[in-house]
Amino acid sequence: MKILAIESSCDETAAAVVEDGKTVLSNVINTQIELHKEFGGVVPEVASRKHIENISGVVDKALDDAKMTLEDVDAVAVTYGPGLVGALLVGVSTAKALSFAAKKPLIPVHHIKGHICANYIEHPDFKPPFICLVASGGHSHIVYVKDFAEYKVLAKTNDDAAGEAFDKVSRVLGLGYPGGPAIQEYAKKGNPEAISFPRVNMGEDGFDFSFSGVKTAVINYIHNAEQKNIEINKADVAASFQKAVTDVLSNHLIECAKKYNVERIALAGGVAANKPLRDCCEELAKKHKLEFVCPSLKLCTDNAAMIGCAAYFEWQNGKTADMTLNAIANLPLE
Ligand code: KG4
Ligand code: ZN
Repeated sequence: MKILAIESSCDETAAAVVEDGKTVLSNVINTQIELHKEFGGVVPEVASRKHIENISGVVDKALDDAKMTLEDVDAVAVTYGPGLVGALLVGVSTAKALSFAAKKPLIPVHHIKGHICANYIEHPDFKPPFICLVASGGHSHIVYVKDFAEYKVLAKTNDDAAGEAFDKVSRVLGLGYPGGPAIQEYAKKGNPEAISFPRVNMGEDGFDFSFSGVKTAVINYIHNAEQKNIEINKADVAASFQKAVTDVLSNHLIECAKKYNVERIALAGGVAANKPLRDCCEELAKKHKLEFVCPSLKLCTDNAAMIGCAAYFEWQNGKTADMTLNAIANLPLE
């Protein structure tokens, strides 16, 4: 089953052809990062307009790279939420048009399911049940993946997403956008134990996240120093902030794995590209005798190969859409 998949939920215009959910025949990503850098974050209206300019070329390249035409694919899949509604609409409209014109089934895909399924592409033997931490610019979830198309959210954030906190703290430190890679790089010169930033546990089991407190603590730390004319060590701030966030993410993931008695854990989403987080989870997994996987860096951040993979399992579960499919900005996972 060859699926042409489209992703446009944020600032990457992406298309891919994926065979049987795990073999990536092409994976084209046109990122708008440079465009949004000067604003310090994604500007939704600018993103939507750029998606419109990019989408046809990106889809054509994905088919070309896979040495195929639209006739050769068996279905068209698309991210229909969650995300920026104007950005999502570009992908959804394109996928609907292609599916209608070529008379191919249309498969709607939840963006977070896509991130989780990215793990199957490079680890084809990895399979549910497992628990996955999905941390990106828009989401911080711990998800119990019971089966290939069966998901249960165990924890989520009460305010900022982890990636959002990285982006905001990076802006305050003057390190630019996107904040995750900038902070990771800068933190290498700093001491992660230098400043004790808060680690917050929320919800009944303490598995939920809250990252606005740590973000505010960093901002207060910087403002206090400024008022007292004390020079701060920015690398120590970056390293201590990163440590606070990655400690919480990895600890909650392991606690959930213990509570639900699973043997496997995984990472997904843009923040899963963070090296200290990957290393910490790997170490904890070893200690607790859990199998641990995470996607390569290219498959952590937004891409369409992960959508093609998730689409295959959604299709097997009987999920298709008709021409009434719409973009849903806050689409729930379950
Ligand atoms: O999954 P993604 O590409 O888009 C969303 O669905 O949001 O994630 C983007 C987010 C940004 O907030 C970015 O700062 C963060 O992932 N990110 C990282 C790293 N690389 C990207 N955060 C921490 N460390 C990284 N190395
Ligand atoms: Zn994403």
